Amino acid sequence: MTTVEEEKALAARYALERIPSDARIVGLGSGSTVEAFVRELRRSDLSKRLRFVPTSSQIEEAALRAGLELVDIDHVETVDFTVDGADEIDPNLNLLKGGGGALTREKVLAVNSDVYVIIADHRKLVRSLCSTHALPVEVLRYGRTHVARLIAEAVNGIPELRLTRFGIPFTTDNGNYVLDVTMPEPLEDPEATLTQLKLIPGVVEVGLFVGLADEAYVAEGREVRVISS
Ligand code: 5RP
Repeated sequence: MTTVEEEKALAARYALERIPSDARIVGLGSGSTVEAFVRELRRSDLSKRLRFVPTSSQIEEAALRAGLELVDIDHVETVDFTVDGADEIDPNLNLLKGGGGALTREKVLAVNSDVYVIIADHRKLVRSLCSTHALPVEVLRYGRTHVARLIAEAVNGIPELRLTRFGIPFTTDNGNYVLDVTMPEPLEDPEATLTQLKLIPGVVEVGLFVGLADEAYVAEGREVRVISS
């Protein structure tokens, strides 16, 4: 039987083989599946001719441990290929992200990458987003109780401030908070929900990635299923 960790490694290897031969700058999303990708890179000669743009302190530390050369996103003109994870993937290749709290930087990187691919184990496939996870929304600290109320009113959801295991508010790498919004039902129209939430002042970013991914490589046992946009 293939374990989830083996599936993550399989999806990571698949993505590694798809880095274009002329790529120079590769983006790194965040989370444990992207860490599996970093481990595969460490074993590959490919990493020697590439420089990497990280999206979080978590993946930056993993990349440095692996000896990868990092570059600031503002010091490159273009990112050739980005590999990211996801918490949920729907059949239209829309994503729910933000489990690790790096959603804003991940979205900035996604829209500024020539190619944006997702790697995942089989558990991430869902029929509709918000089926298995609450929706992460990064918000300013200022007025966050009021922002939470406006979010609840806009989408009929239940926002909960994300806490660390020490019981204090989780702070993103951008110095903001995250509200995990339990939705009343899985999303029929993720784009509409995204638009409603983005209009609320104090909302920095929403963990819905609609129409951004080019492909997803989803490991199911020993096979990799490719979902294309
Ligand atoms: C972080 C993310 C991650 O990509 C997502 O949470 C998946 O993480 P993992 O690979 O650990 O399951 O969006 O903000």
